[in-house]
Amino acid sequence: MTIDQEMKDRLIQQALAARSWSYSPYSHYAVGAALLTRSGKVYDGVNVENAAFPTTICAERVAVFKAVSEGERDFTAIAVVTENGGSPCGSCRQVLAEFGLDTLVLIADGEGRQTAEYPLRALLPDAFTPDKLIH
Ligand code: THU
Repeated sequence: MTIDQEMKDRLIQQALAARSWSYSPYSHYAVGAALLTRSGKVYDGVNVENAAFPTTICAERVAVFKAVSEGERDFTAIAVVTENGGSPCGSCRQVLAEFGLDTLVLIADGEGRQTAEYPLRALLPDAFTPDKLIH
């Protein structure tokens, strides 16, 4: 499913707004995400850090887990906003890949300017996907 530029901009704005809720007292690297489902809903997420550093979770995974825990598994696009237009980490790419490689990943900076866009399959070539396990 393709989305128009207006929808892309709305997703980026939602990720930008969510980013203000980032809990990132250690890295000071605030991340906001907004995930669009095929049904038209948007789930946002922020990174939530922890004094026990490895238990930190990224914004993208928070958004995916919020959606999945409400019964949503079909994703069209995800916008990710960081100060410097950072790209999703490998773990988040893998979690997104579980639900489809066609999800469009929109990357934007702290001003909400889109800096890049990729289908997930371009960010995770030769992905390990559920069809490898489910027969
Ligand atoms: N982070 C995300 O939220 N998403 C990513 O894809 C990359 C990293 C967070 C985790 C941590 O709170 C901070 O950014 C620095 O790594």
